Formats: sequence, C-alpha cells, structure tokens
Amino acid sequence: MGIKSDMNTRILAIETSCDETAAAVVENGTAILSNIVASQINLHAQYGGVFPEVASRRHAEVIYPVIQQALETAHIGLDDVDCIAVTQGPGLVGSLLVGVNAAKGLALGRNKPLLGVNHIEGHIYSLWLTEAASEIEFPVLTLVVSGGHTELYLMTDHGKYRHLGGTLDDAAGEAFDKVGRLLGLPFPGGPAIDKAATTGNPTAFRFPRAVMDDGYNFSFSGLKTAVMRQTRHFDPEKMPVNDLAASFQAAVVDVLVTKTRQAAEDYGVTAVHIAGGVSANRALRQAMQEALDIPVRYPPPILCTDNAAMIAAAAHWHFIQGQRHTLDLDVIPSLQLT
Ligand code: KG4
Ligand code: ZN
Repeated sequence: MGIKSDMNTRILAIETSCDETAAAVVENGTAILSNIVASQINLHAQYGGVFPEVASRRHAEVIYPVIQQALETAHIGLDDVDCIAVTQGPGLVGSLLVGVNAAKGLALGRNKPLLGVNHIEGHIYSLWLTEAASEIEFPVLTLVVSGGHTELYLMTDHGKYRHLGGTLDDAAGEAFDKVGRLLGLPFPGGPAIDKAATTGNPTAFRFPRAVMDDGYNFSFSGLKTAVMRQTRHFDPEKMPVNDLAASFQAAVVDVLVTKTRQAAEDYGVTAVHIAGGVSANRALRQAMQEALDIPVRYPPPILCTDNAAMIAAAAHWHFIQGQRHTLDLDVIPSLQLT
C-alpha cells in the first residue's frame, strides 16, 4: 500500500473528543516523548456523567497549556514536529471543535501539515505504543470497549479494517457507568465497579448474558435493567454492592469474551487486542487471557482511557502514506471507522 515504514516522524497530537483534554508527542508511531492528559472527571462527577457544555468550556480553558506542557515535556518546540494530528470524531461536537480549531491554528501559524484522526482508530493504535508493538502481525482482532463504543474490528493491515460487530444499545463503559450510579458508587462507574468486584461474589446473582446468538453484536441495556430490578429488592443501606458489582461485571465480561473468542476462531487471527477505557478492567483482561490460546494484548491503564498519544500513533501510519488534510477539516461527531 505504498507505506514507507522506515520514514521517521515526530507528531504532535491533540485529543478533546469527550472529557479529557490531551496532547502528546510521539516519534515513529511508537515512542512516546510526552503524553499529557488533563482529566475533567472531578468536574463532571457532580452530574454523574459528562456534561457536554461544561466539557467544551473546560477544553477551551486548558487546551493551550496542555499543548505547551506536551512540547516542554518532549523538550521540543513546534518547529520540531512534522505534523499536527487531531481527533476529528466520533465524540461530542463542542469538545471536538476545541481540539480541531486549536490544531488548525497551530498548523496555519507554523505552516505544518494537518491530519484528522478517527478516535476509535486511535484506541486501536494504542497497542503500537506498547512493548509488544514489534510482535504485532496481521490479521489481528481488536475489541474496542469504552464509554462510547463496544466494537469488534478485524484488522488485516495498517488502516485496513472490517467492522465485525458492535453494540446495539449501550456501550460496555456506559453500562458500567450507569450500574455504578445504581449502586451508589462514584463516577466513573467502571473503575469503581472493578474495585468493588474484587471483594464481591460474581455468582451471587445470575444476570442475563444478552444476544449470545446474534453474530458479533452486543447489547447491554437489558443487563442494566436486570441490575436495576435487583437493587429494588434491597434497602439502600443494606445493598450488597460488592456482590452486585461482581455479578454485573461477570455478565459483561462473559459476553465480551464469548463474542471475541468466536470471532478470533472464525477469522484465524494471530492475536486479540483489547483497547479503550474498559480494557483497563482486570476481570476482562484475565478472562480473555484464560479463554484464548493466542496472545491477548492490552495497553497500560494510561493508554486505555482517552489520550493523545494513541491519536499520534494512528496519525503516523496515515502520514507516511502521504495523507494530509487541509484547513477545511471539519469535526464529524458520528464518524465511523470502515
Ligand atoms: O476510552 P475512554 O476513556 O472514553 C471513551 O472513549 O468513551 O473510556 C471511558 C470508559 C468509562 O465508561 C469508564 O467507566 C470505563 O471506560 N472504564 C472502566 C475501567 N476504567 C475505565 N470500565 C471497567 N473497568 C475499568 N477498570
Ligand atoms: Zn475513547
């Protein structure tokens, strides 16, 4: 496909698709020189979820200091980067606009190439920022599990994807966040449930494993409703939070692992990659490893949740193929990866 894989690149990337304001500098799509993430979790915790207006305003306040910090940490100036990459979508429109406009300003001001990147592709490329990068051989199967997505992609080469399935309703992370709220756990629910589940009994409650026979698609809204019904049986003070958390998590993990294993067998992949915020989940990592006899890889926690290093890693492969965007680059809140 005309890739000059030996071409050296140094890319500054910006990510503002949801509630993390992030900037990073990455060399050759694999070596992180800096990776700055300003999380807004504390800001949104009071609302129990991400408040879009509040998110975009905070992005606008911190984006330039975050970019500055990324350059300083990497010990470089803007003139030393080959390209400015930015998340174009999917994500919240107001949040995406802040990042894209900042990237356009820098590209115009310093006469640097501009590249818009798909956020999901960024999560997929987070694996190229790990020590295992040199061992990756196509085809690989990537399960992207985050607050906004639950998608299975067969990747046959750099930039070549086949979407095998995705969620029909709630994303896995969204289910974790909603159930976390039902159980009175702090926002975001994912890490809180992960922690509560370590001292809970995963077989205390038998929650439904939805659409186990519907190809590679997922559904988590029925599971969320089942947990809600179960919580009504308890006095809020006497709720067995840890058992409910562990049983809910076991149901999510069971579905994710079953579908991923099936797809891995059907397509004869060399490895399974898990990416996105939910890939930080310890039970998911362990169950996936136990269920498969091919390598199962996942990024370190800082690269699971939203960050700009992964955007730079994905941008590298587009850049060396000669792809560029003009200053007309627009945000696409419902951008697909095909
Ligand atoms: O990738 P990410 O930062 O943002 C999106 O692109 O959506 O993912 C955030 C999601 C949240 O729903 C959060 O609850 C979930 O990832 N999450 C986890 C864990 N850490 C973060 N879910 C389960 N277990 C975890 N350890
Ligand atoms: Zn994400």
